[in-house]
Amino acid sequence: MSNPLTDPATTPWWTGAVVYQIYPRSFQDSDGNGIGDLRGVLQRVDHLAELGVDVVWFSPVYRSPQDDNGYDISDYQDVDPLFGTLADLDEVVQALHERGIKVVMDLVVNHTSDEHPWFVESRSSADNPKRDWYWWRPARAGMQAGEPGAEPTNWGSFFSGPTWAFDEATGEYYLHLFSRKQPDLNWENPEVRKAVYDMMRWWLDRGIDGFRMDVINLISKRTGPDGELADGLVSVGPYGDAGPITTNGPRLHEFLQEMHHAVFDGRDGELLLVGETPGATIEEGKLLTDPARDELGMIFTFEHMGLDHGPAGRFDIKPLDLRELKATMSRWQAGLQDAGWNSLYWENHDQPRIVSRFGDDGEFRRESATMLGTVLHLHRGTPYVYQGEELGMTNAHFTSFESYRDIESLRYVAQARTIGHLSDDQLLKGLQDGSRDNARTPVQWDASPQAGFTTGTPWIAVNPNHRSINAEAQRADPESVFHHYRRLIALRHDEAVVRFGDFTLLLPEDPDVYAFTRTLGDERLVVAANFRGESRTVDLGIDLHGAELVLGNYADSAAPESAIVTLRPWEAVVVRA
Ligand code: NOJ
Repeated sequence: MSNPLTDPATTPWWTGAVVYQIYPRSFQDSDGNGIGDLRGVLQRVDHLAELGVDVVWFSPVYRSPQDDNGYDISDYQDVDPLFGTLADLDEVVQALHERGIKVVMDLVVNHTSDEHPWFVESRSSADNPKRDWYWWRPARAGMQAGEPGAEPTNWGSFFSGPTWAFDEATGEYYLHLFSRKQPDLNWENPEVRKAVYDMMRWWLDRGIDGFRMDVINLISKRTGPDGELADGLVSVGPYGDAGPITTNGPRLHEFLQEMHHAVFDGRDGELLLVGETPGATIEEGKLLTDPARDELGMIFTFEHMGLDHGPAGRFDIKPLDLRELKATMSRWQAGLQDAGWNSLYWENHDQPRIVSRFGDDGEFRRESATMLGTVLHLHRGTPYVYQGEELGMTNAHFTSFESYRDIESLRYVAQARTIGHLSDDQLLKGLQDGSRDNARTPVQWDASPQAGFTTGTPWIAVNPNHRSINAEAQRADPESVFHHYRRLIALRHDEAVVRFGDFTLLLPEDPDVYAFTRTLGDERLVVAANFRGESRTVDLGIDLHGAELVLGNYADSAAPESAIVTLRPWEAVVVRA
């Protein structure tokens, strides 16, 4: 059976697109207050056009107290003054549209800010008409509300501490899977769903081209029982794991189909709809992205991002086993081969930089960053490039706790310190490897003091390596990471086999080389990439005699001449054979 999304006659535009994610706070500051903003984006649209991306996804710019850098929204229909105005946003959208770039907005509707008027009303009294718009619960049976351990369940929040906050005024608790300033909306209530759909239609009517839906598989959830006390993501504390109970709830597909019909009907295929779905299995992925089911276009899966996590999660990083990465990626490729669609990503604002994670951010930074880009972009799916990834930006390498800004990192450190099971050195190492701030240092535009990001003091430190790693230098260097990403994006636009071809993994057991083919009719591309800092020779089992080089990441890359292929440190080749 072949996937209807790979039929050129009917496939939607986004199966051939490359998306660029902007985290506005760290992209470009225009007014010298040290925080990136929308007028800053206007200064950099030509960078995006030159790179050749088709879509920009904006992390939230809505009104927000900024407890979680905008993922805590107090007004869905306005822009936060930190970032500018609705008129600025209109200008940005217009400037991007003029360059043929579509715009996708972040949609954060699992929770609001506690300062959103809906929550302000909801918490005002137990009989307020909006009380049921959030998850309010009494204390655990037999316990005194407010006393330690009286929370309705034992769950730990994604950001450390309990998921239930006690509200003195009404003597009840509200649920917040993230920070206590991010109360979870109750999607069981039809009024909540209607309010969300109305807001979404308002955005589409303003001319945006889709949504990236934050933790969308948490909208249907169970609110009990207690979670397992285990070493896991929430292990640094006396809390239970809420994940399995609150993720992929029983009404998820019903809600998404209802949303689809209420908001997207009549615009099918025109919109890019990508859901962030931690913990989704391939089976879930198929259900969520099979176009026949009218839910989403694609999802962000997390399996490949967890492969270097130790038992205590993102702050407990271990070396990647390449065989596991290959197995995971190819399972998803195969799983959505006949129905559904993959999104492809190495980075976003929640993940450390890929060159520091799976590559080498020292001697072979350029080689490993271009190799990693090649491997990702040659898979089937829609690739996402996170700001700075196209420059091979590295982790922050902060050497003091004071440099960190992210709520998840700060709360993790505070909680770990109260438990006292890790030394400060261990804690700092955890942040250096795993903190989300690694992705949030300002984009490195040039070699000037604040990397061209701001004339003021940046809200988070600029990486000193901007003197050598920056967009200006890379534009002038044809071998740079930037130009390699530009070529990768062009390749997807030009070659139907990159967009639609079937994926077959080669050498699944090889610990160092990632190799696969993409096939469409008589066309075949062979991709081989070395994940090590020394040369490797492998037998691909495919005669490459007479093969034509499509792309390589060394200035003198050449097509191999037989099945036996030698790859230099972090070398990647794509050949037509
Ligand atoms: C996922 C977002 O990507 C992350 O940045 C945020 O903290 C949580 N969802 C909560 O909205």
